[in-house]
Amino acid sequence: MERTKILVTGGAGYIGSHAVVELYQAGYQPVIVDDFSNSQESVMAGLRAILGVSVPLHRIDCNDVEAMRAVFAEEGSLRGVIHFAAYKAVGESIVKPLEYYQNNVGSLLTLLQVMREFGVESLVFSSSCTVYGVPDALPVTEQTPTKKANSPYGATKQMCEDILQDVAAAPAVALRAILLRYFNPIGAHDSALIGELPLGVPQNLIPYVTQTAAGIREKLTINGDTYDTPDGTNIRDYIHVVDLAKAHVVAVRRLLEGKAAAAVETFNVGTGHGNSVLEVVKAFEHATGQRLNYTIGPPRAGDVPAIYADVTKASTELGFTTTTSLEDSLASAWKWQQSLNR
Ligand code: NAD
Ligand code: WQD
Repeated sequence: MERTKILVTGGAGYIGSHAVVELYQAGYQPVIVDDFSNSQESVMAGLRAILGVSVPLHRIDCNDVEAMRAVFAEEGSLRGVIHFAAYKAVGESIVKPLEYYQNNVGSLLTLLQVMREFGVESLVFSSSCTVYGVPDALPVTEQTPTKKANSPYGATKQMCEDILQDVAAAPAVALRAILLRYFNPIGAHDSALIGELPLGVPQNLIPYVTQTAAGIREKLTINGDTYDTPDGTNIRDYIHVVDLAKAHVVAVRRLLEGKAAAAVETFNVGTGHGNSVLEVVKAFEHATGQRLNYTIGPPRAGDVPAIYADVTKASTELGFTTTTSLEDSLASAWKWQQSLNR
């Protein structure tokens, strides 16, 4: 039987590549669009090694409307799209806001235009817990009010969510969208053939931790320990990237089976548990047997003291729950780091 084709923009990236694996293994045919602005060709070989087949790839910028039309025309029977492609570095977005608005908002507009032209109605969109800003109460539910974003990156996610609501609500538009608000994805595929490939000095905690353990960085600096949290360090909801990838399969299936309860549905995708930075350090040491050199530094500008997800909606409506523990997630991140050093 022919596989149902799903276009995966940003499918060569960190989360996208893991979603490609899960989609294929669930019986779909992922088709990747990526311009490799933040990924490497080696990802394609990793996917081939895991799946035993080559995943179709279109190396284009998804802001390029003609190139996108050509992909939809050539592929012929796309049933849905997962739109991962975006720039994602919060700090960089403050320095290069125009590039972030252009790429993140512009690519969604182009995609929606081409989807309409080709009659493709189902979209899963990568949103982020960043839309909640500093929440007034924890855990955050999908009803928790969004706050003014503290970076252009965060603003692009809010704008994209608003655009999708407006487009899906318009008369005579057949769009169905599921917005997944990811919390903090970490770890790598168990094969250690794909994982996160940060360019330069990592800004995110887990790649910094694994590079420190590998001796690439001298020590981890914990960004402040005087927050109003039990041990004074920030709390986040760390979700294993393969668990997160599986949420996309569930969302795609729901859209294609016509089971969505509204034109746009929004789901938190996290574990429902918060862990402090110090707890992550301890869990990493316990899971890997590595001692981690760390120091306490000043707070990082713009950091949210604590955020974690209420996952009731994803659990009851999507039937989605995570299965990987924090320690297993960290062990997979370490295995991936070691594979890079070989
Ligand atoms: P990533 O940078 O690893 O992957 C994004 C991919 O999109 C890269 O392969 C990049 O080359 C590609 N890309 C970017 N702009 C493109 C364009 N115009 N045309 C074609 N390809 C393009 O990032 P990721 O961590 O996998 O994140 C995927 C999505 O999830 C992004 O939308 C991101 O904002 C969102 N998100 C990520 C996190 C996180 O912590 N990683 C958290 C919440 C939301
Ligand atoms: C986690 C915790 C840091 C590095 C970012 C984006 C968010 C979303 C996920 C896309 C924080 C602390 C970090 C270090 C540290 N992305 N830390 N020392 O900031 O929760 O979220 O990625 O949508 O929008 O903002 O993730 O991994 O950067 O930080 O102490 O060297 O680790 O201060 O408390 P964050 P992170």
